[in-house]
Amino acid sequence: MKTEHIARTFVEYFEERGHRRVTGSTLLPPPGDPVLFTTSGMHPLTPYLEGRPHPDGRRLVNVQRCLRTTDLEEVGDATHLTVFEMLGTWSLGDYEGPESLDWGYGLLTEGLGVDPGLLHATVFGGDDRTGPDEASLELWQRRGVPVERTVRDNWWSNGPTGPCGPDSEIFLWSGDTPPRSTPTRDDRWVEVWNHVMMRHRRLDDGSLVPLPQRNIDTGLGLERLASLLQGKRSVYECDVFDPWRRLVPPLWPLDEPSLRVTYDHLRSAVVVIGDGVRPGNTGQGYVLRRLVRRVLTVLWREDPTRTLQDLPTELIEHTLDHFRQDVDPGDVRGTLLDEERRFVRLLERGRRVLARPRFRRPLEEDDLRYLHDTHGLPRDLVMSLRGGRVIDSPTKG
Ligand code: SER
Repeated sequence: MKTEHIARTFVEYFEERGHRRVTGSTLLPPPGDPVLFTTSGMHPLTPYLEGRPHPDGRRLVNVQRCLRTTDLEEVGDATHLTVFEMLGTWSLGDYEGPESLDWGYGLLTEGLGVDPGLLHATVFGGDDRTGPDEASLELWQRRGVPVERTVRDNWWSNGPTGPCGPDSEIFLWSGDTPPRSTPTRDDRWVEVWNHVMMRHRRLDDGSLVPLPQRNIDTGLGLERLASLLQGKRSVYECDVFDPWRRLVPPLWPLDEPSLRVTYDHLRSAVVVIGDGVRPGNTGQGYVLRRLVRRVLTVLWREDPTRTLQDLPTELIEHTLDHFRQDVDPGDVRGTLLDEERRFVRLLERGRRVLARPRFRRPLEEDDLRYLHDTHGLPRDLVMSLRGGRVIDSPTKG
């Protein structure tokens, strides 16, 4: 089952149940939003979760592209991508959690053909502020789905303040042998769909107040579900990555972890550029810069003659098409190549400056500040040049 088919089945299933499809936003949150990128489907809907009436009503469904730099260090494992698509549904003060979970169960098992024996759920077990989520627990017990109670893992918030609430997560078994354990004990249970009972708002002082309405916010990772339904071991093997797997290894023979980083970061960089971001030293531009520089680092580790000039145009076009971005692939390529040239120049300057006698000793804070302020050499670049590597590994964004 192709990714596009899964997305269509999802949207139609919820349209049949009274949801209106809303167009997903770009990766760029509206001006004034403190978050750099759209990180989940609910993010652009925050004002409506907080009570503003939505023009399309109280039941919504969409497909939203998201970018999560908090997962950057996990990129390369089987389930995390920097840019991914989230299928989402919302009840804005309309139906409640059990209805949402029951539809989720119905879509997965009947709509998408998942064996019910391969499902596990988790629910919020309660803490000193909020009671256990008995309604979700009962629903899962009625459906015969095994369920585990947790506390921290079943509370969702988009940040330290704002809308939040207990959630119930649906996991799919990815192991070769029948499951014996629970999601917190065996990571072959892969989380695919999160249903958040978004009824609270956390204030600056940490206290919780009720939102004006009881909402449901659900998010399902499309590439993750697609890879499981397609019987693949990682998100990089689902159909979205077919052209990447066909075209990149003959061009740049890398080991599997490096290939994954290359696919993920280049694809993410194309989407971010497609949404109008240009590399820079702060904010969104800096995230883009790190993505491109990390790919180059990986490519140059074994062969410094590799260049993004060789990146097949088909991969840029395929990505822009997939995300319905009406942008000239030549401009995207131009931006990538400009950044490559800038990085080459920076590395050359870095090597020259660091070869000076004054820097042939352990560097101190003053040296790092001078190298940064006078020569534009970021601290992490200096450290990695000193360590003999081309550049740093990424830090959490
Ligand atoms: N907001 C929740 C998430 O991102 C569900 O959409 O997981």
